This record gives sequence, structure tokens and C-alpha cells, in this order.
Amino acid sequence: VEIAAAAEHLLRPPRPQPLAGKRVLITAGPTFEPIDTVRGITNRSSGKMGYAVAAAAADAGASVIIVSGPTALATPAGCDRVDVTTAREMYDAVMARAPQSDIFIGVAAVADYHVVNQADHKLKKDDAGPPTIMLAENPDILAAVAKLPKPPFCVGFAAETENLREYAQAKRRKKGIPLLAANLAQHAFGRDDNALTLFDDAGEHVVARASKEVVARKLIEHVVLLMSGR
Ligand code: PMT
Repeated sequence: VEIAAAAEHLLRPPRPQPLAGKRVLITAGPTFEPIDTVRGITNRSSGKMGYAVAAAAADAGASVIIVSGPTALATPAGCDRVDVTTAREMYDAVMARAPQSDIFIGVAAVADYHVVNQADHKLKKDDAGPPTIMLAENPDILAAVAKLPKPPFCVGFAAETENLREYAQAKRRKKGIPLLAANLAQHAFGRDDNALTLFDDAGEHVVARASKEVVARKLIEHVVLLMSGR
């Protein structure tokens, strides 16, 4: 699959390269927070949206690094990939690269909590009943990148099940980022298509439902537009 994608990438007629010379850092996929050596807490992100955004950025001429949680996907042609498992690992991998990046796009569905009392063996079902799992908050990767002294242009994602506009606008303000792409979780996770509403200083912009590749290309076009006005 990767060889076919690379060949297709090489044979494709040249597209405009508005991100030539730009370094784009993208998180994608879920994180996995271990409970014991065989179980963990994760979510339903397949990585498809994040990988499509990475491919669109590479097509626009950027040099792209994907910091990826566990997925079954092939790395898009022209992108580098750093594999991580937990939110803490994702944070460390991103913070090591963000200061050298021009654009950061957080597409990953990062677990909000990790297990503090993680067991170093498989927990056994016994008469004591279900184990008590103690949780602690994970670092907010996107907010930390946005707070860097010279932050890259930051784009966040928000998957909501209701009140999309209200929650997305609040999230954009809280994280202090110029652009946030909101989608409905029940119509986005794991699917090949998606629809986005983009929130920025000018208001909201609808990206109609289409394949994740097409939606990702439109998102990158919007990023290029906003960056050209900086
Ligand atoms: O992977 P797919 O199956 O294609 O599905 C795509 C998707 C639904 C996962 C994707 O489109 C999406 O919406 N990703 C964000 C999921 C989400 O709900 O994020 P959030 O609301 O928890 O976080 C908001 C933003 O902060 C996101 O950019 C997230 O990457 C970032 N974040 C969140 C928590 C945290 N600890 N660190 C972060 O960087």
C-alpha cells in the first residue's frame, strides 16, 4: 500500500505548493492509557482524519511529521511518522518538535486521563470484586504548544456529540488558538467521510461532507489563507 501510494504521489500532475518550505507537525489517532499489562483506556479514533490532513499538507509542499497513536494505517507518502502510545509520550514527542514547526495541527483524540495505579501484571478477577482505577489528568498538548514563546500556527479539532458551535467556540478560546475544526463525533470517528465547521476570528465556515481526503484539502486551503493574512 505504501509503495502504491508513493508511486501515485510521484506520478500525480503537479499541484500548487503553497506550503513549500513550511514544517507541519500533526497529531493523529487515539492514545492508549494502560490499566495493566493487557488492558487500557482508549477511544474510537482510527487516525483517518489526521492522516488525511497530513497527506493534504504534504501535497501542498510542506515537510510533515505525524505523531501518531496506535492505528492500522500506512504512513502517507512524503510524511515522516513518530509512533507513540500514551498521551504523555505524545506530549513529549510534540514538545520536542513544536518549536521548530511552522504549523501544528492537533487531530488526535487524546485521552484526558491516565491510570495512576497501573498494574505491572495482568489483574486477576478474584473475590475482592472489580479493581478501583484511579485517574489523573493528562497534559493538554495543544494548549502547551499554543503557549510556547513563538508558537507555530495552531489548529485544533473538536469532536462533540451535541452543541457543536457553543462547545467548539469555547474550546478555541480556552486553548488560545486561531483556528478550530469541529466535527460531530458520531459522524466522524472511523468513517471515510466527514464534515467540518471551521471557527476562526472571522466567524465560522462550513466544509461540506465529503471524503476525509477532500475535507482535509479544504482545511489546509483555509490554513494557507489565514497564514497569508498574518
Ligand atoms: O481518527 P478518525 O476516526 O478519522 O476520527 C477523527 C476525529 C473525530 C478523532 C477527529 O476529527 C477529531 O475530532 N479529533 C479531536 C478529538 C477531540 O475530541 O478532541 P478534544 O475535544 O478532546 O480536544 C480538543 C483539541 O485538543 C484536539 O485538537 C486535541 O488533539 C487536543 N488535545 C486534547 C487533549 C489533550 N490532552 N491534548 C490535546 O492536544
